[in-house]
Amino acid sequence: LIPPSSYHSAEVFVTEMARLFRDQFQFVGLTSELASDRDFVSVEHAGASIVVQNFKGSLRAFENVCSHRFSKIQTEDRGNRPLTCRYHGWSFNEAGQPFAMPKRAEYLEDGADLELLCLKRYRVETCGKFVFVIESENPLGLQEYLGEFYPVVEQLSGHLGAEFHYDVIPHAANWKILVENVLDNHHCALLHRDSFIAWGFCKLPLEDVRLEGRHSSFHVPRAEGDREALRRRAFSHLEDRSFAHDSFYHIMVFPNLFIASNEGMSFYVGHALPIAPGETLLRVRYFEPAMAFEKGRRMRQDIANEQTKANAVQVIYEDKPILESIQKGAQLTNQRGIVARGEVRIRAFLDRYAELMA
Ligand code: FES
Ligand SMILES: [Fe+2]
Repeated sequence: LIPPSSYHSAEVFVTEMARLFRDQFQFVGLTSELASDRDFVSVEHAGASIVVQNFKGSLRAFENVCSHRFSKIQTEDRGNRPLTCRYHGWSFNEAGQPFAMPKRAEYLEDGADLELLCLKRYRVETCGKFVFVIESENPLGLQEYLGEFYPVVEQLSGHLGAEFHYDVIPHAANWKILVENVLDNHHCALLHRDSFIAWGFCKLPLEDVRLEGRHSSFHVPRAEGDREALRRRAFSHLEDRSFAHDSFYHIMVFPNLFIASNEGMSFYVGHALPIAPGETLLRVRYFEPAMAFEKGRRMRQDIANEQTKANAVQVIYEDKPILESIQKGAQLTNQRGIVARGEVRIRAFLDRYAELMA
């Protein structure tokens, strides 16, 4: 196990940003957020600020820092506007070169090499709807990075319908504490008594625990409760959904992306962005299943979406105070702690982490 200092040391954090984030594929967003010309998604964490932007149908990624005076170019998480800096109005083209510069003659001689003012480029690769970037010189391919999870993520993303909830939730905790938490099955009995347990999850043994390279997944089966008939009626409009299973299916794409399907009736994409050793932003996105909801069905699905959103907020805020107390605890002890034998996903995460950091 890694020492508790790994959760708060500034030195460890700097190494993580280089080896686990800068040198690897990083998730940015979904193609559904980048569907139209000028759509953009930006991610920012301690290691980098990156923007992916749609230029007339093609996706390009750059460092989101203006080559004039370092202003961030896109200041929102996502939106629709040209790649134009808000400070002095430089606009950048699909090659990352400034092509419109107010008072251009004050900066450049005629025929000057614009490549010198080019934004740092990243390579964009997609797996289904999931958009990833990597530094452009890095030879690693996304298929190779995701391994056996590539077709899994690709197929799953085909079942994602419209997004119905997006939020960013700050956590005063190290990013690895959030990762370990989503891989941890044993805390549900106590912490999620009124949520996961009440909904029938975490009562049966885990199924299909899968470890592949750095990534992992499991199914948390749902036990039928005494209000099963009522539940079946409430969700009867989803009976012919394309992806159906009686479980909470959870995938972790190393190092910080979580993809979950709740019986194929709703989908969750969580993205933990490390801001500082003791500070993480959790970006959450929720999706309804990809299917046509006509008239009455639309209304029923809107109600289901509201319920899913309320449930999600409940679970996140059940975990958050504990995760923040773990951060404080890790700063007070030198003990390394212990992980249960059955928690193979946490063990695998920590092993892969230690290998990369060694
Ligand atoms: S800092 Fe971006 S245009 Fe000046
Ligand atoms: Fe939890």
